[in-house]
Amino acid sequence: MTFAHLDGVCALEAACFVHPWSRESLQNELQNDNSLFYVAGESGEIIGYIGMNFVLDEGYIYNVAVAENHRKKGIGSALIRTLVTYAKKNSFSFLTLEVRESNIAARSLYEHFGFIKVGERKSYYSDPVENAVLMTLYF
Ligand SMILES: CC(C)(COP(=O)(O)OP(=O)(O)OC[C@H]1O[C@@H](n2cnc3c(N)ncnc32)[C@H](O)[C@@H]1OP(=O)(O)O)[C@@H](O)C(=O)NCCC(=O)NCCS
Repeated sequence: MTFAHLDGVCALEAACFVHPWSRESLQNELQNDNSLFYVAGESGEIIGYIGMNFVLDEGYIYNVAVAENHRKKGIGSALIRTLVTYAKKNSFSFLTLEVRESNIAARSLYEHFGFIKVGERKSYYSDPVENAVLMTLYF
């Protein structure tokens, strides 16, 4: 992902999340040497993106999103696979993330890759209030 993709990623964030990342936050993270972002595109349109932050050998997935009309075609899997490959190549110990308890699509996607539930954060999300499930893939 580069600065040229910011408009597309902001639009995707706004369409997919109640509390989307601001353009400024995304722009700052893009300049962070400890963050990594990938986009999926089709005919010049951004149809998916994923981002993570890492500290030494620990990877923290920020977000993954696929445009609604492009879901269930393997794009989310391709994005996760890219981070898993990067993590393995760089000898990470684990990749971890938080997800809304009711987000069955995302939880199934992560389970597909071997992420397991390792904990819960009560009432972590707002609008609506909901628990976060912590999921981790250990290498
Ligand atoms: C979660 C999300 C990224 C999945 O992207 P996707 O491109 O549709 O995922 P894929 O096509 O690669 O699906 C891979 C697996 O995920 C699971 N999955 C995806 N969508 C699903 C759904 N609606 N219901 C149940 N399982 C689902 C399935 O196990 C699927 O494997 P299968 O096709 O063999 O059944 C997408 O639904 C999305 O952007 N959601 C909104 C944003 C979001 O909630 N992000 C997660 C924040 S933590």
